[in-house]
Amino acid sequence: MFAICTTGKADGTVELRQVDVPKVGPKEILVKVVAAAQNPTDWKSSGRQEDVKVVGCDYAGIVTQLGDGVTEDVKVGDRIAGMVFGCLEMNGAFAEYTAAPSHMFFKLPESASFEDMSQLGVACYTTCQCLYQSQDLPSPENPTTTPIDILVWGGSSSVGHFVIQLAKLGGMRVIATASPKHFDRLKKLGADEVFDYRDPEVAKKIRTLTNEKLKHAVDCISEGSTPQLISDSLSPEGGTISAILKYDTVRPEVKVVFSLAYYLFGKPFGNFTPTTEMTEFATKSSKLISKLLAEGKIVPAPLKIYPKGLADVPEGLEFMKSGKVSGEKIVYRVADTPGVKA
Ligand SMILES: NC(=O)c1ccc[n+]([C@@H]2O[C@H](COP(=O)([O-])OP(=O)(O)OC[C@H]3O[C@@H](n4cnc5c(N)ncnc54)[C@H](OP(=O)(O)O)[C@@H]3O)[C@@H](O)[C@H]2O)c1
Repeated sequence: MFAICTTGKADGTVELRQVDVPKVGPKEILVKVVAAAQNPTDWKSSGRQEDVKVVGCDYAGIVTQLGDGVTEDVKVGDRIAGMVFGCLEMNGAFAEYTAAPSHMFFKLPESASFEDMSQLGVACYTTCQCLYQSQDLPSPENPTTTPIDILVWGGSSSVGHFVIQLAKLGGMRVIATASPKHFDRLKKLGADEVFDYRDPEVAKKIRTLTNEKLKHAVDCISEGSTPQLISDSLSPEGGTISAILKYDTVRPEVKVVFSLAYYLFGKPFGNFTPTTEMTEFATKSSKLISKLLAEGKIVPAPLKIYPKGLADVPEGLEFMKSGKVSGEKIVYRVADTPGVKA
């Protein structure tokens, strides 16, 4: 099959190659990938590999085989989307087939396109971690009836897009930051107030809006000026920030809790040892997102679809690496790849 692979070069060069279809292991599902979406981790991880690995984490496609011990409600022919551990093995989403963990997929409604749904994996699992694991915030299944404010920094990012929606479904008042061109779209998603993150007064304005009582934030960017600006927006008494890149707090009263979607796979990597708590959390998140999709409560972000499928991944990674992504998800249709047979 065709797959986008790392080359072992430190500059993160990737190339389209012929590789074997991954073998489906226990508790795995083999998926014929129809569309794959791109995440920053794809270019970041590609530069860290010393040998050949298949790139890509977010997929949407059709189930073609079940591994041993799959107990979830899934069968051959089902339309699913989810997340795989790209750049770790000869298995990734930027390929004709991927072997996906059976506890980490979402069932797709018939009316949903694979292109739209391919963006859900990384962003939705990260959203669940930020809201329900790093902080115990109200979920759509048990929305709050008492007012809770939440700040979503980077509301137009892939992760922010879903944090806004799930926070709103959880009954919270959502305050987001983004570039002004995205304000209307984010309000339609559920943001009650949106501020320009480049406004020098942004933290002061958020403190005024929240009467200096803001206690909860999700930092969907987690680098540059965001640790400081979010801390400055929180109450003088402090609060909690869910971060998705690691950083230390800049104020002792503010707790920063880091999460990583890779923790949910149940596989060891680096210094991380998997725990059942993480895989159980992933299973719960899979069910929550599948239910919200079935109820039509989740809106996908706008797409930027490259015309030559996987052959365009090197260009797409460069585009993202240069910081040009703004409020849209880069997606590749596998069938658009020259040489791929339908
Ligand atoms: N821990 C995890 O498991 C995990 C999971 C997913 C992502 N991440 C990390 O999280 C980061 C974001 O990932 P993503 O896929 O969500 O990104 P993305 O969609 O590619 O990010 C692009 C968006 O970021 C916004 N942005 C950039 N700088 C900003 C700032 N200073 N303040 C507010 N918004 C800003 C831009 O907003 P405008 O267009 O409005 O200007 C743009 O829409 C990456 O570093 C990624 O590696 C971590």
